[in-house]
Amino acid sequence: MSDGKAARQGICILGATGSIGASTLDVLGRHPDLFRVVALTANSNVDALVDLCRRFEPELAAIGDASLAGRLAQELRKAGLRTTASGGPDALVQAARLGSVDCVVAAIVGAAGLSATLAAARAGKRLLLANKEAIVCAGSLLLEAVRGSRANLLPVDSEHNAIHQCLAAARDANHAVKRLILTASGGPFLRRTDLAGVTPEQACAHPKWNMGRKISVDSATLMNKGLEVIEASWLFGFAPDRIDVVIHPQSVIHSLVEFVDGSVLAQMGTPDMRTPIAYALGFPERIASGSPRLDLLQAGPLQFEAPNQEQFPCLRLAYQALRAGPAACIALNAANEVAVDSFLKRELPFVRIPAVIQEVLARCSGGPPGSIEAVLELDREARRETRTLLTRSTWTS
Ligand SMILES: NC(=O)c1ccc[n+]([C@@H]2O[C@H](COP(=O)([O-])OP(=O)(O)OC[C@H]3O[C@@H](n4cnc5c(N)ncnc54)[C@H](OP(=O)(O)O)[C@@H]3O)[C@@H](O)[C@H]2O)c1
Repeated sequence: MSDGKAARQGICILGATGSIGASTLDVLGRHPDLFRVVALTANSNVDALVDLCRRFEPELAAIGDASLAGRLAQELRKAGLRTTASGGPDALVQAARLGSVDCVVAAIVGAAGLSATLAAARAGKRLLLANKEAIVCAGSLLLEAVRGSRANLLPVDSEHNAIHQCLAAARDANHAVKRLILTASGGPFLRRTDLAGVTPEQACAHPKWNMGRKISVDSATLMNKGLEVIEASWLFGFAPDRIDVVIHPQSVIHSLVEFVDGSVLAQMGTPDMRTPIAYALGFPERIASGSPRLDLLQAGPLQFEAPNQEQFPCLRLAYQALRAGPAACIALNAANEVAVDSFLKRELPFVRIPAVIQEVLARCSGGPPGSIEAVLELDREARRETRTLLTRSTWTS
């Protein structure tokens, strides 16, 4: 193509006002010759979405909360922008499917991102997946959609992104690879023995990564690593007994692949999400990310230890759900989302989060869901179950 502008990739960011959204926009801002922002979405933060529209002038801005669509349209008009406003969950799906969009960055937090992420896959978009809950809940449907439409799925989660990079060294991963090793920083409570009285502020103060509140709490309970084990199993086609987790507090090695010949490949870098985002945006080329370079002489000793599954049972619960099947993974995720929300509202103590999830998992039954509607129904059922459990005073005291 001779027109450089026409060759630019059109980008839609689902969840543009969040932490991954901000890191993505930072990388995109460094490459105006390669990318143009076509659609941005948020859930309720109209002001932040309008600010982003001022900076990037997308064709479309969509807000998940339908009641805010009118205000969004008004604010965009006031700002003198030609960006079209839309609202409601369907508007997010439309944003992902837009004809001028080549690449969708799925960065909504939670199962709320599932429908729009799946729509992007079905529409054959290049899909940059950060929204791990979508693949945890509907791995089979999502991968089927990617295959059916010949979409290209690239993981943004730093661990899976690292594995994607390491697997480039194997022609046939299933035979060449012995196991995948996901690293975990250990979160803010790695060395804390008494977790009673932990506050949302303490749980969200991650020592290495600056992230949204839900994933920060998941990192503190190690559920984040559990969700990532399930995500890795779907993305790379590995059974749970070929996926290990190792605590690596420095967060310099983002994950590793052990090959049958004894070689172990690791991907390293500073803990900055702009690196995996730039890798996925540029793939198969490499583009600058803006991340600080890794200075090995300053990085200090790299340590590794086994996760303490007694103190952080969420990791064990995630393996248990993965072995039990897709319905259990949906229940695990839904129970976790409700429990974390309750903790962030200072209703449920931090230490009770795993017990609530365990109880919901124990009650969960049902075969693999064959449609998005069935996934969403199982998700709603598990949320109802969890909320009912939480009304028991024994959980919250
Ligand atoms: N942050 C990281 O470093 C990181 C790393 C790896 C993977 N991830 C994954 O990336 C995803 C996003 O994480 P994050 O840290 O960026 O989260 P975040 O900062 O909380 O941002 C979440 C984004 O999703 C939108 N959103 C929330 N609820 C929604 C709903 N019901 N419907 C539609 N949109 C909704 C938010 O809009 P409003 O602003 O309007 O609420 C916001 O734009 C998560 O799945 C997380 O596990 C994050």
